Amino acid sequence: MNASAPPSDVAHPRAIRSFVRRTGRVTTGQAKAFEALGPAFILPHQPIALDVERAFGPELAGGPVVLEIGFGMGEATAHIAGVLPQTRFVCCEVHEPGVGALLKRIGQHDLRNFRIVAHDAVEVLRDMIPPASLDGIHVFFPDPWHKKRHHKRRLIQAPLVRELALRLKVGGYVHLATDWQPYAEQMLAVLSAEPLLRNTSPHPEGWADKPHYRPLTKFENRGLRLGHGVWDLVFQRV
Ligand SMILES: C[S@@+](CC[C@H](N)C(=O)[O-])C[C@H]1O[C@@H](n2cnc3c(N)ncnc32)[C@H](O)[C@@H]1O
Repeated sequence: MNASAPPSDVAHPRAIRSFVRRTGRVTTGQAKAFEALGPAFILPHQPIALDVERAFGPELAGGPVVLEIGFGMGEATAHIAGVLPQTRFVCCEVHEPGVGALLKRIGQHDLRNFRIVAHDAVEVLRDMIPPASLDGIHVFFPDPWHKKRHHKRRLIQAPLVRELALRLKVGGYVHLATDWQPYAEQMLAVLSAEPLLRNTSPHPEGWADKPHYRPLTKFENRGLRLGHGVWDLVFQRV
C-alpha cells in the first residue's frame, strides 16, 4: 500500500456516532497543559497514514504501537503509559476536558510515550492507521448506550471490529473492558465471530483475567465495592 493512502473505509455508519459531544469546562490547569504540551503531544486528524517513527521520534524508535479509543479523563491511560514506557500510545478522545486532563497528567508524570488525536477514533482509524500496523488496541469502558434504541451507537459492532482486526499486526491484541454485562456479552459475541481474531481466554466462559497493566480506576473500585462486575476481553489477531 502507498504510505500516504488511507486504508479501506471503516464500515461504521457515520451518521450514527458512538459519542455525543458533551460541553464540559476546561479547567485553568487543563488550559495551561493544552498551551504547554498540546503542540508536542497532539496530532491533527488528517487523511494521511500516521508515520509513527516520525511522530514519536528516535527515543522510542521501534517500540510497540497501541491505539486507545476513548480515554475519558486519561486516568488509566497515564497509568498504563507509565507501566509500559517503551510502548507508543496513540490515543483518541473527543471530549476536550479529557484531552486537557491527559495532557496535565503527561506533564505531572513526565510521560513521553503518547500522542493524542482529539477526534472521532472511527475516522482516525479509517484515515490514519494503516493495515497491520498496530501491536495492540485498548477500549476501556466505552459508552454502554443502555437504551435499546441507542444500541446502534455502541462502538463495538461487527463492521468496526473487522476494521480493528485488519489494522493489527498478526499476533497483535485487542483488549476491551466494560462494566455493563449486556455490552460485555455483545463484545464477546462480535469478537468471537470475527475470523481474524481468536480469544486468548483460558476460561470456558471466554472472559480474560485483567491484564496487569490495566489499573482499577476510582470509578471501577467503587463499582466493585457495590457488587458490580467488570469484564475484560483479550483477543489476538491470527
Ligand atoms: C465511558 S467513557 C470511558 C473513559 C475511559 N476509557 C475510562 O475507562 O475511564 C467513554 C469515552 O469514550 C469517548 N468516545 C466515545 N466514542 C468515541 C470515539 N468514536 N472516538 C473517540 N472517543 C470516543 C467518550 O468521549 C468518553 O470520554
